[in-house]
Amino acid sequence: GSCLESVKIAIDTGYRHIDGAFVYFNEHEVGQAIREKIAEGKIKREDIFYCGKLWNTCHPPELVRPTLEKTLKILQLDYVDLYIIELPMAFKPGDAIYPKDENGKFIYHETDLCATWEAMEACKDAGLAKSIGVSNFNRRQLEMILNKPGLKYKPVSNQVECHPYFTQPKLLEFCRQHDIVIVGYSPLGTSRDETWVNVSSPPLLKDPVLNAIGKKYNKTAAQIALRFSIQRGVVVIPKSFNPQRIRENFQV
Ligand code: A2P
Repeated sequence: GSCLESVKIAIDTGYRHIDGAFVYFNEHEVGQAIREKIAEGKIKREDIFYCGKLWNTCHPPELVRPTLEKTLKILQLDYVDLYIIELPMAFKPGDAIYPKDENGKFIYHETDLCATWEAMEACKDAGLAKSIGVSNFNRRQLEMILNKPGLKYKPVSNQVECHPYFTQPKLLEFCRQHDIVIVGYSPLGTSRDETWVNVSSPPLLKDPVLNAIGKKYNKTAAQIALRFSIQRGVVVIPKSFNPQRIRENFQV
């Protein structure tokens, strides 16, 4: 229920871009929040920009559309504004979200990203996704799609980790040249998962420079971090379940 409440507060605060995924297991709450706010007359469906994501176990082309249809059914919406390939590598298809072998190692699956992309294009043609994009793609993986013979639609965006301690200058420049919007996840640098980030770096929100700038402008370090990314042309998707911080992250 905290996701439902948070999304409703976010919409009331003025947020319109909602970043979701099947694998967050809360799309039913997000969809309910959006539908309640539409019913209240606070927003129209077209005001909202919902991003959904294709999970790793669903890369085989024949699974792409049914997977998006499942997300739409959970959301109880007719379309997503953006549908993206969540990660450039595939897991073995099946019921296990994180399939592992007897040694606890992920079971990957050979797939052709270009074939997956063609199935994404078909979702756009069918009106199930207004736009299509990718996530966690590096330059080589983006080039594979951009150079695909018969490419119908380019990825409109690439969602990657991006914040003042991880500024992605080369990828940002490459994407700029190709008209691909960078959407920055963990924009507050809050991930401390050691399988994911180098935890020997200090927490971003404790950074002395961000805090000094915050003091000067009467803002928090979090607000400075978000504004820094926005001014670099990076779309930010801060996550908070706290009403005060949901509002704080909007005042940038
Ligand atoms: P909270 O929900 O209590 O606000 P993630 O790293 O998964 O993207 O999550 C973001 C984390 O950053 C959450 O733990 C969230 O906690 C916290 N957070 C969000 N906004 C702020 C903020 N303005 N200042 C400090 N922490 C924040």
